[in-house]
Amino acid sequence: FEVDWSAEAIELGGYEDFMLKEIHEQPAALQATLAGRLDAGGRVDLSELGLDLSGIERVVIVACGTAYHAGLLGKSALERLARVPVEVAVASEYRYGDPVGDEGTLVVAISQSGETTDTLAAIEAARAFGARVLAVTNTQGSLITREADAVLLTKAGPEVGVAATKTFLTQVAALYLLALGVAGVRGARPAGELEEIGRALRRSPEKVEEGIELLGERLMSEAVGVFAGARCALFLGRGQSFPVALEGALKLKEISYLPAEGYPAGEMKHGPIALVDEQCPVVAILGEGTLREKTLSNVEETVARGARVIAVANEGDAAAERIAQSVLPVPTVPEILSPLVSAVPLQFLAYHVAKARGLDVDKPRNLAKSVTVE
Ligand code: G6P
Repeated sequence: FEVDWSAEAIELGGYEDFMLKEIHEQPAALQATLAGRLDAGGRVDLSELGLDLSGIERVVIVACGTAYHAGLLGKSALERLARVPVEVAVASEYRYGDPVGDEGTLVVAISQSGETTDTLAAIEAARAFGARVLAVTNTQGSLITREADAVLLTKAGPEVGVAATKTFLTQVAALYLLALGVAGVRGARPAGELEEIGRALRRSPEKVEEGIELLGERLMSEAVGVFAGARCALFLGRGQSFPVALEGALKLKEISYLPAEGYPAGEMKHGPIALVDEQCPVVAILGEGTLREKTLSNVEETVARGARVIAVANEGDAAAERIAQSVLPVPTVPEILSPLVSAVPLQFLAYHVAKARGLDVDKPRNLAKSVTVE
């Protein structure tokens, strides 16, 4: 037995890959995002931004890749909690789209690296109509921090794996903080309700940890088994579980090279259901409440057409056990925060499917961690 003293082995800290290490770092990363911004009573303090959040009439979120998916979740939180209209745009489209807005528009530009050319150009396009700009980034001193009026650092720590994991979860948490902060100053919801969500958000690092512990080796190998012989995959969700589905599909295609689509479950019947057969597994993010019921019946339609199903569902969900070959359980959290727990099993799924195919998960082909060209 020889000890590997290389710098990389030391940095990996016993994990096989950076992606796996970074998935496991998520509880600590979330803790860092929330620290000092959310007190024990669930009250949010974003005075560090130096922005007047009360005057916001409209929000435009611009981002690329995984950060765009975080943006979609930000839209849903901001609209539901703060009742502000939000548009989310892929930065490479927004920059050339002749965008409309005024001084009442807050542009939230999300970028892990803070160096993505398209996102920086989208900021410039919004400057033309007088928007204020808030950057949500993981990289202090990056270009975006110099372009923006205010910066909300995600503080996830360095991420080496090309596929974003802990930086995604912390972007989502940062956007929840923003939504709660804006909702508070606008009086959009009763303070008690916002504080309750705030307290649950404070507990989210423990919930994510609990979720990681729920996913033992046996459950993961069952899920990977569903992918044996797969030629594609469909990720389905509704409401907030739809952006989670998009992110799950992106993770899988990035590192396993399997064609994967994320779709709102209700849209299945308008096209993607044609893809369904035994070799195209369905990954269903069930979520909670009425949308869970609706998603279940959409998934049942795929089962009737021969689909093999992996369900991401709350612990002990009997209906999920009944329709799925494999269930990846998540701990119960308030519905609005469910993406924080349901995204994690999909990261593990992509990781293990890619590993089973013998691929380099940290350095997928053709991809770069940060894209500084157009
Ligand atoms: C690249 C990375 C993705 C990332 C995207 C946006 O494509 O591979 O993981 O989501 O850029 O990067 P940013 O640094 O702006 O968040």
